[in-house]
Amino acid sequence: MGSLKEVRSSIEEAYKKKLDRPRIIVGLGTCGMAAGGTKVMAAIETEVEKLGLDVDLDFTSCIGMCYAEPVVEMGLPGAASVVYGGVYPEDVAQLIESHMVNKTPVTDKAEIQISAGGATYEGIPVMEKSPYYEKQVRSVTSRLGRTNPERIEDYIATGGYAGLEKALTMEPQEIINQVKISGLRGRGGGGFPTGTKWQFVADAVGDKKYIVCNADEGDPGAFMDRSVLEGDPHAIMEGMMIAGYAIGANEGVIYCRAEYPLAIKRLNMAIAVAEEMGILGDNIMGTDFNFKLRIKAGAGAFVCGEETALLNSIEGKRGMPRVRPPFPAHKGLWQKPTCLNNVETFANIPFIVRNGGDWYASMGTEKSKGSKVFCLTGKINNTGLAEVPMGITLREVVFNIAGGIADGKKFKAVQSGGPSGGCLPAEQLDLPIDYDSLISGGAMMGSGGLVVMDEGTCMVDVAKFFLNFTQLESCGKCTPCREGTKRLLEILERICDGLGVPEDIDTLERLAKTIKTSALCALGQTAPNPVLTTLRYFRNEYEAHINEKRCPAGVCPELLTYAIVEDKCVGCGVCIKACPVGAITGEKKAAHTIDASKCVKCGACVPKCKFDAIVQA
Ligand SMILES: Cc1cc2nc3c(=O)[nH]c(=O)nc-3n(C[C@H](O)[C@H](O)[C@H](O)COP(=O)(O)O)c2cc1C
Ligand code: SF4
Ligand code: SF4
Ligand code: SF4
Repeated sequence: MGSLKEVRSSIEEAYKKKLDRPRIIVGLGTCGMAAGGTKVMAAIETEVEKLGLDVDLDFTSCIGMCYAEPVVEMGLPGAASVVYGGVYPEDVAQLIESHMVNKTPVTDKAEIQISAGGATYEGIPVMEKSPYYEKQVRSVTSRLGRTNPERIEDYIATGGYAGLEKALTMEPQEIINQVKISGLRGRGGGGFPTGTKWQFVADAVGDKKYIVCNADEGDPGAFMDRSVLEGDPHAIMEGMMIAGYAIGANEGVIYCRAEYPLAIKRLNMAIAVAEEMGILGDNIMGTDFNFKLRIKAGAGAFVCGEETALLNSIEGKRGMPRVRPPFPAHKGLWQKPTCLNNVETFANIPFIVRNGGDWYASMGTEKSKGSKVFCLTGKINNTGLAEVPMGITLREVVFNIAGGIADGKKFKAVQSGGPSGGCLPAEQLDLPIDYDSLISGGAMMGSGGLVVMDEGTCMVDVAKFFLNFTQLESCGKCTPCREGTKRLLEILERICDGLGVPEDIDTLERLAKTIKTSALCALGQTAPNPVLTTLRYFRNEYEAHINEKRCPAGVCPELLTYAIVEDKCVGCGVCIKACPVGAITGEKKAAHTIDASKCVKCGACVPKCKFDAIVQA
């Protein structure tokens, strides 16, 4: 292909025309499919055929509202399109009849409407003004839920590959300068300045250089990279190609965990079609720039996200970190200078090149520029994906975007940064979300997982959960991490089992600090963070477990007791049937009792009692 400009206007024209047609679009990212989106699509196809409607049926990726999946968008020419949430096959006939045939949206199932210049409907929040999106800035996520990720035309019509086109007219150093001006810091966790990294690789001496995209994403609670891979694969490829041109590499590898099959499928499709169109391969867009790209599927070990372990894994070796220096910028893949960045980092690049570094730097804070995609999970009303400007507070994210705590419960903590991060309490809710503030609070931005916890969460149990994860995922290469995380976990297990001793707190702190300073890679160096932050902010919970043999949140089974309140019990006998071990006895119409020596603390009796007579303490 010669210039993309020759085909761009016709692609754009065709794309605009699609908006002048009646259309139904189903969200088929992994979250949409898991919620039943494929069955909804089948039901829509059947209904459209049955009614003989002239409607375009299409699919898209996750728009971000995972809490509302399965999501279906319906649009009529000249009008805003309405995004419906919680659509199941049995809802389809009524929705189509009302919206597509009678042109009347079903407001009680409508989540938002997207105007795009069309007339809006009464009673449905417009996307930009809706509680979920009002405080978001959508750039990396702008195509998610808006385009079909399996169609390159959708990508090109929405500005795709214009960044590469522009980059190819620029001097490589000019591009690196723009990335530096943008202030973009790596979105994979460490927050290293991307422009500086690119400069190191550009300046490194080597007959061959590589671009590697880290799409391993192993943190519990993180799925932003998967969403971008599934929803906008070309953006990552475009970012990698621009990086290749800027630093002098003509080969790239995307390292993606095999547990992301949809992402790998869509990436493969995107690579094939881009090659076919001359956007990828030799003499890209008629220039003398060549770039080839391949995918390496990883087996899904957390440590393989660590950059040097990842490089070993691509080379077919065991995924264990290498001693640094030398850093990958000098000796990376096959010992050649390598530019390794995260999915979201690369996905930001086309926007930065198209709009200029200053545009990007105008968002965010002094030291953390731009926007960041977060995954909102845990005890909140709205779980999903949110792209926010850096500097927004945790409170705004939890209470505005995520809609506050589910079931009217109280906020307790937010875990930021996965196993490398930490738990921040309510007093830290006004902390701005940026690299440095989160670190000052004892946590980390990490890759962008935010797990919200309510009053029913035991913070010692949370520390145990993360330690169990890092201990299992430790590659075992160095002693502090291999043995130290195991010892930390053992102590936490003892405390949760009611066998903790007062010295345990000091031992935890001492051991945690030793591991932090002596482990070889960041897995070990950050593994103690959940222990240290929970000790910093929730020490009283550790003390209650150890000194009073009590779990204040009522979570740790060994520390719970079940009892029947005599005054409330009417002697109905229902609880006896629920108890698997025969621990409950009593005569009809007389107060029952629980034999603590038999009770296995399963909790099965509590919900069965209609008189709230069984209490857990
Ligand atoms: C145990 C561990 C796991 C990691 N997992 C990932 C990951 O899944 N994705 C990622 O981009 N970076 C991950 N990182 C960070 C990478 O080592 C590296 O810093 C990053 O990919 C660089 O890209 P960036 O500069 O664009 O952030 C991990 C680091 C450690 C120590
Ligand atoms: S810190 Fe842990 S994961 Fe990293 S090299 Fe050492 S043992 Fe392996
Ligand atoms: S179910 Fe409740 S009221 Fe009935 S016997 Fe058990 S404790 Fe008493
Ligand atoms: S908690 Fe379980 S084992 Fe104990 S009394 Fe209730 S049902 Fe029986």
